[in-house]
Amino acid sequence: MTVTNKDKVIEAARLAAENAYVPYSKFRVGAALITKNGEIFQGCNIENASFGLTNCAERTAIFKAVSEGYCDFECLAVYGDTKEPISPCGACRQVMVEFFESDSKVILIAKDKSTVEMTVGELLPYSFTDLQ
Ligand code: THU
Repeated sequence: MTVTNKDKVIEAARLAAENAYVPYSKFRVGAALITKNGEIFQGCNIENASFGLTNCAERTAIFKAVSEGYCDFECLAVYGDTKEPISPCGACRQVMVEFFESDSKVILIAKDKSTVEMTVGELLPYSFTDLQ
C-alpha cells in the first residue's frame, strides 16, 4: 500500500464516523477499506432499539463493498472516538477473516489520530474458515 493510500483510508475511516447512527451508545465508529483495485468503501456503526441488531462500522464497510461486487480487499482502517486505538469486536474479526487475507493490514485509529497496525491473522488467530 502506498503512503498516499494509507493516509486516504485513515481519513476515510475518520470521516465515516460522522454518519454513525448511535442514539443509544453515542459511540461513533468509522471504518474504511481499500479494495485490491484501489476503491475505497466506508462504513459506520448503525444501532437499533433492540441493541442486538446493531451493525458495527467494520461490517457495514465490508458488506457495502461485497454487495457492490468487490470481495478482494487490501486493507481496513477503523476509527473510534477513543483514547487508545479502537479494537474490533469478535464478530467483525470473524467477518474480516472471510474477506481479507491473513496478512492484510488493519489500521486501528484513536481520537488523537494515533494508530496501531495489526494483521487480520493477528486479530483472530486459529480462526474458523470453512468446513473442508
Ligand atoms: N462498535 C463498532 O462499530 N466497531 C467496533 O470495533 C466496536 C464497537 C460499535 C457498536 C456499537 O454501536 C458501539 O460501537 C458500542 O459498542
